[in-house]
Amino acid sequence: MSVESNTTAARLDGRVAMITGSGGGMGRAHAVMMSERGADIVVQDIDANTAEETAQMVRDRGRRALALCYDIADVEQSRHAIETIDQELGGVDILVNNAGLGGKGAKFEEIDETLFTRMISVHLTGHFFLTQFVLPHMKAQRRGKIINISSRWAMTGAAEAPHYIACKSALLGLTKSWALEFAPWNIHVNAVAPGGVWSNMVLQSRGEEFIKAQEKTVPLQRWAQSEEYAYAVCFLASSQADFITGQTLSPNGGASIV
Ligand SMILES: NC(=O)c1ccc[n+]([C@@H]2O[C@H](COP(=O)([O-])OP(=O)(O)OC[C@H]3O[C@@H](n4cnc5c(N)ncnc54)[C@H](O)[C@@H]3O)[C@@H](O)[C@H]2O)c1
Repeated sequence: MSVESNTTAARLDGRVAMITGSGGGMGRAHAVMMSERGADIVVQDIDANTAEETAQMVRDRGRRALALCYDIADVEQSRHAIETIDQELGGVDILVNNAGLGGKGAKFEEIDETLFTRMISVHLTGHFFLTQFVLPHMKAQRRGKIINISSRWAMTGAAEAPHYIACKSALLGLTKSWALEFAPWNIHVNAVAPGGVWSNMVLQSRGEEFIKAQEKTVPLQRWAQSEEYAYAVCFLASSQADFITGQTLSPNGGASIV
């Protein structure tokens, strides 16, 4: 295979990608890079303004975009969203289960039932059922890419935010189970488990000084920019990754080996 045909294979022309939580952070980076590689994008986010901003960035790149504002934990809204997408863009070929909220450094005994349930509803319940709703189109096409955004912490653990880590670990379990169950339909399921990212999630809850201190513990001595994760997500979404399923890719600057 020539280098040229490899480059072509990395493109996402003719695909519709839905990215939850793509009003900001890494989700926005995935949306923008995927549109630059030829995909039309469904921008899902709880924030209508930022969702529309991302959609406009996609349109500025010559692709179609649909901004859908709702809480991913609301399963009925996801059911309706899929109907709208089917009508307007023709079904989701690539799903990135990305929306999330941080653990904010919470210790085990500080986590009450409300906090725990909310964490499960957003990361797990919301994405579990959204995936169920996109599946009929993927099965009919006998083709699909599902990428679950987990966390490095799902592999290493951390002495904080156990409710967050429980959800991110569950997503790794679902990645393997779904990969096995959907393989007969040529639907590939993988996870990306980011290390530290300079995004609002940690900046707003822990601040810049916290991140700078954390960077010193990473072998590469830094946290990443969102775009660096988009390369991994776009690769897994492309036909270059057609023999990869049930795997976890963790760009983390070497943090998981120390
Ligand atoms: N920031 C990190 O260091 C880090 C590390 C590992 C994994 N992650 C994971 O990566 C994913 C993206 O994180 P990020 O750093 O880009 O965060 P971010 O806070 O910058 O962006 C998250 C986006 O999700 C949206 N969102 C939040 N709750 C939502 C809900 N209930 N329904 C719909 N949209 C919702 C937000 O409005 C925002 O646009 C998350 O799943 C996060 O857990 C982040």
